Amino acid sequence: MLRAIQYSSANKLLQLATTSCARNASSSPQCEPSKPNIRTAVPGPKTLQLSAELNQLQQAGSVQLIGDYERCVGNYFVDVDGNEFLDAFTQISSIPVGYNHPHLLTAFEDQKNIKALVNRPALGVFPDKEWPQKLRDILLPVAPSGLTNISTMMCGSCSNENAYKAVFIWYRNKERGTVEFSEEEMQSCMKNAAPGSPNLSILSFVDAFHGRTFGSLSTTRSKAIHKIDVPAFDWPVAPFPKYRYPLDQFERENQEEDARCLEQVQARINEYKSRCPVAGVVVEPIQSEGGDNEASPQFFRNLQKLCKENGIALIIDEVQTGCGPTGKMWAYEHFELPSPPDLLTFSKKMLTGGFYFKPEFKPPQAYRVFNTWMGDPSKLILLERVLQVIKRENLLDRVQKTGAVLKGGLHELEKEFPQLIHSVRGRGTFLSFTAKDSAVRDQINNGLKKNGVLGGGCGEASIRLRPSLVFEPKHAHIYLDVLRKTLKEL
Ligand SMILES: Cc1ncc(COP(=O)(O)O)c(C=O)c1O
Repeated sequence: MLRAIQYSSANKLLQLATTSCARNASSSPQCEPSKPNIRTAVPGPKTLQLSAELNQLQQAGSVQLIGDYERCVGNYFVDVDGNEFLDAFTQISSIPVGYNHPHLLTAFEDQKNIKALVNRPALGVFPDKEWPQKLRDILLPVAPSGLTNISTMMCGSCSNENAYKAVFIWYRNKERGTVEFSEEEMQSCMKNAAPGSPNLSILSFVDAFHGRTFGSLSTTRSKAIHKIDVPAFDWPVAPFPKYRYPLDQFERENQEEDARCLEQVQARINEYKSRCPVAGVVVEPIQSEGGDNEASPQFFRNLQKLCKENGIALIIDEVQTGCGPTGKMWAYEHFELPSPPDLLTFSKKMLTGGFYFKPEFKPPQAYRVFNTWMGDPSKLILLERVLQVIKRENLLDRVQKTGAVLKGGLHELEKEFPQLIHSVRGRGTFLSFTAKDSAVRDQINNGLKKNGVLGGGCGEASIRLRPSLVFEPKHAHIYLDVLRKTLKEL
């Protein structure tokens, strides 16, 4: 009842905006279709026509579908051809509480919020009078415990990029022992030369993805097409564990794999000591774009120990795993680290980019980790509402319940179709499985789409599930039924 009242004014808006909503207005506050509904070939004629138009203006080869965002609702993505897809990919894992959530739709009914949208400040120089309070009220309550500082940014890549800069500044300050720069440093950095532009590196892992701006791209190792033709730093790379599944049958082998990878991390640190010392290690809690590769809590605890022993900062990249999809706010919480990571980066479901950090990573001088926008207050207005929905609707619990249904169903399917899929893995609804090869993976993904479900590929031959946090067991059953049908059709 209370929920109905809270949603009622937003529902009026939503009912006007979505035909599917009008059809199901009485069934749920979000008025979702009850199942996928495919009306045309996929991609449909309007998608093809608009993609061609777009392609005349830019490289639009990556476009899969053209959305009709007025009609998308809850867990359903509606394309311009009127096809209604159950969305288990959600804009590359970036829609936290479903499309057109009523609580988000009303955010800008408030004139104060409209003004925040219209008068976008350069946050580093002219922040709003309420900005410190907003950071304290919205971002700090969900901060990883022990990380008391926060810097907002625009996207995942630039969050990592600026976290790396904070690490280099911290590292040089430690080496220098003072916050004053020498004349030689000031002059040499203007020629991109040491000591002002020091030879320092960030170590990343094979198959990692940390973004596409220059510094972050040097730590990205997932696909050649992301990197080719772009100059890159000579920074070290170490192997990330590749486990054998099912995990409970290969415990010993997987522990050996952890040890092998950690030895390689130490070897790379030693190797780079004289030519380009490692100042930081960046790691995803679950490697996402690179194939949804998991590593054990023990691996992460030992990695943190190794970083501490070598005087190196540990950056955890939660751009894809953050904000709940693994069943915890931050995926690294599953690892029970004895102390927090030094920095943690986020974007995607958090709607704003940014990073949390320990106080020692705050540069002593202004304008060093800086750009014009440094985030966007209007995104925080939406994030505040997202976090309210997560709390009010107990969505982290829901993720765990729905995840258990999904994972159980995927395990059944890997038994039913062992010649097609294997290695079901992941936490919460952040799940994936591997297909026999990349051709079969693409067939499964295309088949899912034609049957009304959106999913994403990752790595060589894997399919990843990235539903929003409002995915329920009933959606999980639809996903599993459509996947079974698709596998049978292959
Ligand atoms: C783990 C991780 N880090 C960084 C990024 C880069 O984020 P963005 O695409 O917003 O720059 C991504 C994007 O997929 C990601 O998955």
